[in-house]
Amino acid sequence: MRKINNINPLLNNLGEDVMSFLNEIQQKYPKAISLASGRPNEDYFDLKNFPEYFNLYIDYESSSKKKSRKEVLNSLGQYNQTKGIINKLISKYLSKDEKISVNPDDILLTVGTQEGLVITVMTLCDKENDVIIVEDPAYVGITHFSIIAGYQIEPVCVNQDGISLKMLEEKIIQCKNHNKVVKIVYVIPDFQNPTGNNMTLENRHRLLDLANKYNFFIVEDNAYGEFVYKGKRKLTLKALDINKRVIYLHSFSKTIYPSLRLGAMIADQVIQHEENWIALSDLMAKTKGYITVNTSSISQAILGGVLIKNGFSLKAMNKEKVLSMKRKRNLMLSSLEKFLNIKSSPWAKAISWNIPDGGFFITISLPFKVDKNEVAFCAENYQVIFTPMSFFYFNKGGSNEIRLAFSNIPDRKMEHAIKNLTMYFKHKIINN
Ligand SMILES: Cc1ncc(COP(=O)(O)O)c(C=O)c1O
Repeated sequence: MRKINNINPLLNNLGEDVMSFLNEIQQKYPKAISLASGRPNEDYFDLKNFPEYFNLYIDYESSSKKKSRKEVLNSLGQYNQTKGIINKLISKYLSKDEKISVNPDDILLTVGTQEGLVITVMTLCDKENDVIIVEDPAYVGITHFSIIAGYQIEPVCVNQDGISLKMLEEKIIQCKNHNKVVKIVYVIPDFQNPTGNNMTLENRHRLLDLANKYNFFIVEDNAYGEFVYKGKRKLTLKALDINKRVIYLHSFSKTIYPSLRLGAMIADQVIQHEENWIALSDLMAKTKGYITVNTSSISQAILGGVLIKNGFSLKAMNKEKVLSMKRKRNLMLSSLEKFLNIKSSPWAKAISWNIPDGGFFITISLPFKVDKNEVAFCAENYQVIFTPMSFFYFNKGGSNEIRLAFSNIPDRKMEHAIKNLTMYFKHKIINN
């Protein structure tokens, strides 16, 4: 093995490598039931039909563009447009399902939302002068990328009704006083990861107003918006964005499947850079070209076929998936109520949890501290895996909270998993 003296020193600033933890913890404890990572429900992956979708797309392209199937097939095997090849179909879908009206040329098909985040930060931010504000606790995809790439991030706490707008404004002023520019405010308005919180419509309008007042971009990450279990779905920030402040990131990982690695980014702003006016989507494409060259045309063709087959709306197709997630949420909640009932389990009186109206996660507050070692202890002795909330906090926070994902646990295993988890809680509380 060759000795290497210097690697990126910023990697040491990450603290816990949460992405690897979430991707690998199950293999480490194969007998344990994982409530750790927000994986979508595999029962609905529909991978076996992908040749049908792929062929549908080829038929659609060859008839609409008057090309032979061979020509279309060859072009799918080739390098392709950096912004993507199914932009028109995505534009129709966004108009139908999301009430977002966008020119196909302002859309980029990305390698998941994660690439959209990276492209956005790398295109818009100057490492010296600009600040990215994130919700605290936040999805690690943006915070950890920003840390290892050397961008400046600042946390603002997230409440039940979304990012704290009062603290956001204070933070912006604080940054200004230190000659820093808040360039991006990153939010997950719909069923935030990890808290499950949902930004109110009023706060969506107020955040857009703040973006105008202080001249920043809002990066809206919509990974969970379709998964609504109570009430009506709220309009996205992008659908309300009359002043073009929002860069919108839409993931297909949770509604189709994550291995497709597809996201759609909307960057419909025209920005003035030095003397020139430039379409932001063109600048984003410039950055993307040097990150992933272009997004897999094969994945795009499959998604294209899914959209064609469903008349450019995925609502009907996703209905069952959403209902199955709601059932899982309800099962997790009823199991928690059953095993943490104060009458039969008085030791549980200091334990509480939230009831999210959508998304994949429930958070639990505990009267003791949890960390990585506790995850291992619980997995080994009680065969359940959870994620400590502290993994998602920017500074110290969440040390006595855990996040549970109900999204990919078979219904028949839910009660057993929660029973074991509560036995672990009991052990901790009684022996503390
Ligand atoms: C809030 C949020 N954004 C983005 C992602 C990643 O999305 P993608 O698979 O599209 O990269 C996740 C994955 O869990 C997420 O929770």
